[in-house]
Amino acid sequence: MSEHEKKKLKIGFLGAGAMATALARGILAAEKTSPQHVCAYDIDPAAARKFSDQTGSPVVKSIRELMEQSDVIFLAVKPVHAVGVLLSIQEAMGKPLLLVSIAAGVSLRAIESYLCESVRVMRVMPNTPALICCGASGYCLGSNATNEDEHLVQELLASVGVAYRVNEAQMDAVTGLSGSGPAFVYLMIEALSDGGVAAGLPREMATYLAAQTVKGAACMVMETGQHPGVLKDLVSSPGGSTIEGIRRLEEAGVRSAFMEAVLAAAKRSRQMGRKDH
Ligand SMILES: NC(=O)c1ccc[n+]([C@@H]2O[C@H](COP(=O)([O-])OP(=O)(O)OC[C@H]3O[C@@H](n4cnc5c(N)ncnc54)[C@H](OP(=O)(O)O)[C@@H]3O)[C@@H](O)[C@H]2O)c1
Repeated sequence: MSEHEKKKLKIGFLGAGAMATALARGILAAEKTSPQHVCAYDIDPAAARKFSDQTGSPVVKSIRELMEQSDVIFLAVKPVHAVGVLLSIQEAMGKPLLLVSIAAGVSLRAIESYLCESVRVMRVMPNTPALICCGASGYCLGSNATNEDEHLVQELLASVGVAYRVNEAQMDAVTGLSGSGPAFVYLMIEALSDGGVAAGLPREMATYLAAQTVKGAACMVMETGQHPGVLKDLVSSPGGSTIEGIRRLEEAGVRSAFMEAVLAAAKRSRQMGRKDH
């Protein structure tokens, strides 16, 4: 797709909450389309206003209007509201479009079962750092989604971070790791900052040092391509302070706690998918 065509790509957000706003802002910051070609619909007028204020894009008054004005629609309501919204889409479906669901745990089969047979559907699990173009997403394709659809969505997601195609069976794992992961890392940054304060640093400095340390370590993993264990060994000198800290982390079971957190979040995502749909 040419730069000119991209700027004309019409993207609708059905549900204009936190994740829709993060994605829209990221996509606009990456200049994949222009603000007047993005629009949103939300039943909550306050959420709609906030979306408009934060993106510079218009909001519309009905799902039908949203569908008329969009080539691609991101389904961005909470999973519990997804079925109701899909039924409204079915009624309003006047033209072929691509529906990209970001609702955690709602399967392609469930989505397709509420829409006409030929509808093109994709599922995406993004995360909120998409807002600052540092997102991490997984996506999978519905039965009618084409190579062009994949290319388009991959490009939109890549513009706000990294995106991997996965099997649908792996979507809960993506939810548990990168979907929920930012919250795990915020907790880690807060705890590191507490440690810094306990060791005598002022709070603001401690939080900034902690956050920059996490960012720096993440960049080292991605930019050197080294295994994280190798990088850890490189900074742990014999009898030194770092290995002493690592000993305490291992004693406290931190490694296992992170693994269990991802597994628990993935399991919950699976349960939510079963319960609601
Ligand atoms: N936040 C994340 O980190 C994250 C990460 C990955 C995926 N997701 C997925 O993204 C989706 C949205 O999450 P979120 O955190 O952005 O939720 P959110 O902030 O609650 O936004 C959803 C919005 O949709 C509105 N809504 C509810 N029913 C509607 C309807 N029938 N028509 C139009 N709008 C409707 C909600 O209004 P009310 O508040 O009045 O219900 C709310 O303003 C979820 O399915 C979630 O699984 C979120």
